[in-house]
Amino acid sequence: MEEAIELSTYRIVQESLNNIYKHSSATAAQINLQRTSPRALMITIEDNGEGVEEQLDLVNLSQAGHYGLVGIEERVKLLGGRLRIQNRAEGGLLIQAEIPHPKS
Ligand SMILES: Nc1ncnc2c1ncn2[C@@H]1O[C@H](COP(=O)(O)OP(=O)(O)OP(=O)(O)O)[C@@H](O)[C@H]1O
Ligand SMILES: [Mg+2]
Repeated sequence: MEEAIELSTYRIVQESLNNIYKHSSATAAQINLQRTSPRALMITIEDNGEGVEEQLDLVNLSQAGHYGLVGIEERVKLLGGRLRIQNRAEGGLLIQAEIPHPKS
């Protein structure tokens, strides 16, 4: 389980940074990993770029051959976590993945 969490965290950050590089025109990005409770980890990736269209539909995206965000969603789901993808008020995209992670 520990290894699954590690690998997923790595992949989520990797894909998010790829997306920022490819799509965002951002000048800055931030990654944060935080223990939000004794049982949960929050992975946050944000940029100051263009953000995404308002009604982002992950099913449509995967049907059109875009698999990155859907892949992130699947990893988070498999770990029993929750995912938020939203534009920031100040511009850019915010991705927050909260996953269960019992303190060992
Ligand atoms: N940080 C971001 N800033 C702006 N737009 C983004 C960002 N991340 C994703 N997007 C938009 O969301 C779409 C879907 O991203 P996703 O990672 O699912 O697919 P992709 O990057 O186009 O292709 P793939 O990941 O399969 O190589 C992108 O095509 C882009 O339009
Ligand atoms: Mg991508």
